[in-house]
Amino acid sequence: MRPLTLLLILSFVILYACGTEKKDVQTTETSEEKSLVGFVELTDPLDQQLIAQGTKIFTSKCSRCHTLDTAQFIVPALAGVTNRRSPVWIMNMIVNVDEMLKHDPVAADLLRKHKRVMPDPELSVSETRAVLEFLRNNDMEQLGEKDKGVD
Ligand code: HEC
Repeated sequence: MRPLTLLLILSFVILYACGTEKKDVQTTETSEEKSLVGFVELTDPLDQQLIAQGTKIFTSKCSRCHTLDTAQFIVPALAGVTNRRSPVWIMNMIVNVDEMLKHDPVAADLLRKHKRVMPDPELSVSETRAVLEFLRNNDMEQLGEKDKGVD
């Protein structure tokens, strides 16, 4: 590769990196068409607008399978999910569920246990961020603590 070409590519990379630095959610492109969530910024206090948006999405796309308390139905109950998983993991489990079930050991264990594949809910990253806020709020309401989960 000629040095000039290399320099051009490098400056694009740097420009891109700086440009996305302040975004709430960063994504990195994978070889698949989907992008993998790499970083999630959590805010406190909780964002009420996001919670409201997340509530609607959860009711229409998730509640037929998942409960919000600790009563395990056929699939994992979601109370406490932000205390047992990191925000990045939760986001990817929703945005990139197919990939996660294939390649993430924790997700693969869940699949083995529940013997049922979570379908891709086809949400955007920002819709998924709203669902995460809703789940954080649910953990506060149900358990009085949230965001304890690390990778
Ligand atoms: C058809 C049923 C179904 C629907 C609809 C569904 N899920 Fe799931 N979900 C599952 C199953 C089953 C698992 C466990 C992994 C597996 O077996 O695929 C799971 C796992 C999860 C987990 C990981 C739970 C844990 O304990 O770590 C999260 C988070 C999650 N789902 C969120 C969602 C959200 C948010 C939606 C809606 C946007 C949704 N799911 C829609 C079936 C579903």
